[in-house]
Amino acid sequence: MGKRRWQSVYFRSLVLSLPVLLALLALPGPSRSEEGGARGRDVYEKYCIGCHGEKGDGRGEAAADLIIKPRDFTLGLFKFKSTPPGSLPTDEDLKRVITNGLPTSAMPRFRLVSDDEKEDLIAYIKSLSGRWKKGTPERRFTEVVVPDFVGTPESVRKGERLFAERCRRCHGTKDSGPPATFFLRWGGEDCTDLVRPANFNYGVIKRGPRVEDIYLSISAGVDGTPMLSYADLLSEEQRWHLTSYILEIMGKVRR
Ligand code: HEC
Ligand code: HEC
Repeated sequence: MGKRRWQSVYFRSLVLSLPVLLALLALPGPSRSEEGGARGRDVYEKYCIGCHGEKGDGRGEAAADLIIKPRDFTLGLFKFKSTPPGSLPTDEDLKRVITNGLPTSAMPRFRLVSDDEKEDLIAYIKSLSGRWKKGTPERRFTEVVVPDFVGTPESVRKGERLFAERCRRCHGTKDSGPPATFFLRWGGEDCTDLVRPANFNYGVIKRGPRVEDIYLSISAGVDGTPMLSYADLLSEEQRWHLTSYILEIMGKVRR
């Protein structure tokens, strides 16, 4: 009798669990980016948490001592992008920041983190803000070719004139640094996180070491700061003349 009873219970539970089993099979497993995000959390804890914080809100242990604060990833807002103001950055934009760091700020470059680990880190960063679920990056400044005239004395001269009209009040002159500081716009009314206009006398900018990085910062702007996108305010040629003059201040024009 005992055996028979057992059989019927076994049979019944099998029949009952079959639809559950089928339903489970039909559920999607974790997607590639979700798995990458989970691995990315491990890499994040190793290298980034001290500044960007446990929750990714930029409030890591070291943040209190930094004047320019680490990025708050929960906002999904970024400064150095190849996309128009307000748009999300591309994965390549984020990868470039992790690889090169942001010179003149505390953000280090991570040369020893492998490409796979960088991809996982990017998936993790993207999981921290709902912005990525709603939108995609709007590609705009992806193909940039430096024209031959950049760095010629005539282009430097034209750039100098434009710079005096449009840029000097924030960036200062060749001999003196920026006269002004501002607050980051993303932090709300009472935000005291500082942003400083780039000081080109340092010979480096945050976005990177290439000539086109200067042009990209002028064209795409620096989100969250008073540094506008000049793509619709100045012609392409004018933006390249400004690039020439900034190269000159940075001591990078070859003679
Ligand atoms: C020593 C502190 C420090 C560490 C460690 C650090 N960061 Fe940062 N990070 C910063 C600071 C400061 C900024 C903001 C700089 C600025 O706005 O000029 C920043 C900005 C960023 C940005 C935003 C770039 C943009 O376009 O707005 C990204 C992405 C980033 N960090 C990723 C990482 C990742 C990934 C790691 C770990 C592999 C990491 N950071 C480790 C300090 C740090
Ligand atoms: C209202 C102030 C203001 C004006 C005007 C201004 N900038 Fe800026 N600019 C900034 C600030 C602030 C930053 C720094 C953003 C940061 O590092 O967070 C900056 C950064 C930059 C950078 C460097 C970005 C990087 O990658 O580090 C370049 C290049 C630049 N500006 C060029 C220009 C040019 C060219 C003009 C004139 C056409 C100009 N700026 C006008 C405030 C200004």
